[in-house]
Amino acid sequence: MGQRVELPALIDLHVHLRGMRWSHKGDFLSETLAAVAGGYWLVCDMPNTPPETISPDALMAKQAEMAAQAVCDYGIYFGASAADNTAAYPVIAGAVAGLKIFCNETTGDLLIADQAMRERHFAAWDIAKPILVHAEGETVADILTLVRAYRRPTHFVHISTAFEIDLLRAAKAEGLPVTLGVCPHHLWLTVDDLPRLGALGRMKPGLKSPADRAALWDAIADGTVDVVESDHAPHTLAEKQSERPPYGVPGLPTTVPLLLTAVGEGRLSLQRAVELLSDGPARVLGVERPHDTGCVVEMDTPWVIDGARLLGRCGWSPYDGMRVTARVIETTIRGAIVYDASALSRCRERGG
Ligand code: DOR
Ligand code: ZN
Repeated sequence: MGQRVELPALIDLHVHLRGMRWSHKGDFLSETLAAVAGGYWLVCDMPNTPPETISPDALMAKQAEMAAQAVCDYGIYFGASAADNTAAYPVIAGAVAGLKIFCNETTGDLLIADQAMRERHFAAWDIAKPILVHAEGETVADILTLVRAYRRPTHFVHISTAFEIDLLRAAKAEGLPVTLGVCPHHLWLTVDDLPRLGALGRMKPGLKSPADRAALWDAIADGTVDVVESDHAPHTLAEKQSERPPYGVPGLPTTVPLLLTAVGEGRLSLQRAVELLSDGPARVLGVERPHDTGCVVEMDTPWVIDGARLLGRCGWSPYDGMRVTARVIETTIRGAIVYDASALSRCRERGG
C-alpha cells in the first residue's frame, strides 16, 4: 500500500457542472459526485449552461436545483451579458461567488467582444468578490487595461500560453490585483496529442505547443500561477464524436491524481500542490475553509485512467490510458465521509 497523504479542503474554482437544460451532459448530482471522487470540498460553477446565469431568476433556478442535488459545497458565478445586465448586480451580489466575463469565443452565447461593454461590467462590479475572465492572447492585455483603471480583483482563468504568462507576470510585478489559473489539460497535453485525441482534445483555450506547456510549468515553479482549476466541461461522447464537436473536456476526477502524480515524480512539492488546489483558490474567492474537511490520497499506487469508470456522467476522459500513481481514497466534509473509494469498489464488485 502506498503512502497516504492528507490534503486540506480542496477547491476547484472553475467548473461547468451543467444541470438545468444540459443535464444530459451532467447534473449537479453526477458532477458533484465526480468532485468528491476527485477530492474536492468546494466547486464553483460557471454561468454558460442554459438557461444562462445572467438574471436573478436564472440564478434562483440554479440555486434550487443545486441545493436539491449537490453532495459537496458549491458556489455559483453570475454571468456578464452582452446586453448589459449590470442593473442586477446589487440584487445578486450576496448570493454569488463572483462575476464571469467571457471575452473570447467558447461554448454558449455569453461572448462579450466589445471592450466598451467589458468596461461597463468592470465599472459596475463594485463588489468585494472576484471577476473571472476568459481572455486569450492579446485579450489579456485588453483586460489588464480595465484592471489598471478599476482595480477590481481579477482572476484570469485557464491561462495557456507563454505570451499570456509573461503579460500576467508583469501585471503582478506592477502590483495589479490579478491572479491566474492553469488547467491540467494544458499542463499534460499539447497539440502533439491532437491526432490521437481528435475531438476529445478539443477545448477552449485549445491545446498549445510543448514550449507553451513548459512555460506553464515554469510559472508553477516560480510562484506566478495561483490556482490549478479543472475547467471541467463535460459533453457526451456522441456530441464529441459528432460533425461539430463542442469545446470542453471533463477534469474533476483526474486533476488531483495528475497533480499528485507530478508531486511523486518530484515535478513540484506537496506544499506547492496544496497552494494550487486549496490556499490559492481560497484566497481568490475569499472563502474560509471548514474544519474536518479534506481528502486522503494514496501515493505510489499506479493505476490507468479509464474514462468509463470515472464518476461523472460523460464516461470518457482525454487522459484515457494514462498511467498515474496517486489515487483519492477518501473525501470528508465537516466530519462526514462523502466519498470512500473502497466502498465504491465493493459496490462495483457486487454489481458485477
Ligand atoms: O472548452 C471549454 N468548454 N471552454 C470553455 O470556456 C467553456 C467550456 C464549456 O462550457 O463547454
Ligand atoms: Zn470554463
